[in-house]
Amino acid sequence: MQRDTSMDYMSVEESKEIWNNNMKLTDADFLAMDEVEFRARVRERSHHLLEIQMYSAAYRHKKLSEVQPDYARHLLELWEKKGLSKDLPEYRYTGFLIEAAERLIKGEEVDLSPFTPAPVTREMEDSFFTIVRERRSVREFKDIDVPDELIDKVLDAGLWAAHGCNVQSIRYIVVKEKNEPGLFKGSDVPGGPVHLVILQDMRCYRANSFTPLRNQLLDAGAAGQNIVLAAHAVGLEGVWLTFSEVMCERLKARFELPDYIRLVTYVDVGYGDQTPHPPLRWDVKDTVLARV
Ligand SMILES: Cc1cc2nc3c(=O)[nH]c(=O)nc-3n(C[C@H](O)[C@H](O)[C@H](O)COP(=O)(O)O)c2cc1C
Repeated sequence: MQRDTSMDYMSVEESKEIWNNNMKLTDADFLAMDEVEFRARVRERSHHLLEIQMYSAAYRHKKLSEVQPDYARHLLELWEKKGLSKDLPEYRYTGFLIEAAERLIKGEEVDLSPFTPAPVTREMEDSFFTIVRERRSVREFKDIDVPDELIDKVLDAGLWAAHGCNVQSIRYIVVKEKNEPGLFKGSDVPGGPVHLVILQDMRCYRANSFTPLRNQLLDAGAAGQNIVLAAHAVGLEGVWLTFSEVMCERLKARFELPDYIRLVTYVDVGYGDQTPHPPLRWDVKDTVLARV
């Protein structure tokens, strides 16, 4: 049987080996590490060693250890030594966490009120559920060009999905069918005018090899679901599609993808030309196997 390399996730042995090696990492290793892997490590370490503890101290008045921010602070020192930009999100967010932790350690309050989400009004709630329920898999499209700004808005929604250990592995390739006709041939449906390919940079997972491997696939699924919902929200329609191995190989060759980039799935979008009957769903009560 042919092996599906698009689903080539780490083996448990590989993951254990990486974790063991993680514990032995020296400053020299961090300085030599490629940028993507290092950034993912900063995300993961500050998430597990500082973020969770800081919020717990801010809201539950749990005492923060004086040394709690030390490791994150050290990573930012290495960040600077590596000459990475201080405008990148990892540096800014970790800096925020360190500053908040330092205040809490000194017994000061941290004002998190500016981050309170906008109150969800009745109309917002209704709109959300309308979008969730009325999004359909649409497989016929009008011959109208999709503006890049809309595509970027949809891709941005994918990046705001929940993501295991916050390592942010999601990457994209955007292909307009008119520019590369036939690149996606072999799908079970003709497909849409814009192909949004969801990929993952597997270097990010070297940072969090101790979390369940299935999270890697779920990360891409979470991004995909945000993408199909966002497409509907901006007036596009689309369908989530399935790669064949041949299609994967064709894309890898066309975009010269290195081994650490995994093609996971893709979504076709465009202006829909079809209004399918909703494929009806089960009642919630029939899907709840236990409720205690
Ligand atoms: C992971 C995944 C893979 C899918 N693959 C295909 C596919 O290869 N071809 C297709 O026509 N639809 C595909 N779909 C769309 C489903 O058929 C569709 O979501 C389902 O029938 C429910 O319809 P709805 O999306 O309109 O609610 C896929 C959906 C998901 C989530």
